[in-house]
Amino acid sequence: MDDLIRELLAAHPAQDGALLPILHAVQERLGHVPPAAVPLIAEHLNLSRAEVHGVLSYYHFFRSTPPGRQVLQVCRAEACQSRGAEALLAHAEQRLSCASHSTRADGAVTLEPVYCLGLCALSPALQLNDRLHARMTPAKLDALLAKEGL
Ligand code: FES
Repeated sequence: MDDLIRELLAAHPAQDGALLPILHAVQERLGHVPPAAVPLIAEHLNLSRAEVHGVLSYYHFFRSTPPGRQVLQVCRAEACQSRGAEALLAHAEQRLSCASHSTRADGAVTLEPVYCLGLCALSPALQLNDRLHARMTPAKLDALLAKEGL
């Protein structure tokens, strides 16, 4: 895994603003940013481990553990909140038997609250794996999850 991280780092010159693109690249390749990547990234960018960890933990988007086989992200930002996102998330937790910010014991699914998927005008919104879904309702979510075998 270290070799893979070093390969990704080699593609990102150590310059201002490189940290977020690097974290995105690592998560895109591995599905998460493993703790072992933090010192390598810090060394590459001449930052402290705490600085890298601080950014990593600040953004909800980044995970430090591998996700489940499918990932459901429910938007909780303002527009979605005003149109029922909290109830939708509670429904997802119950329907999937999976708490927010966690992966179900069988590894089938990870449930993540996120803060704006860019579909505010069509809220509430969610993303299942790489597909966005707008104007969600609990019933539409049930149908979507059933289609995916969840
Ligand atoms: S607030 Fe939910 S998509 Fe923007």
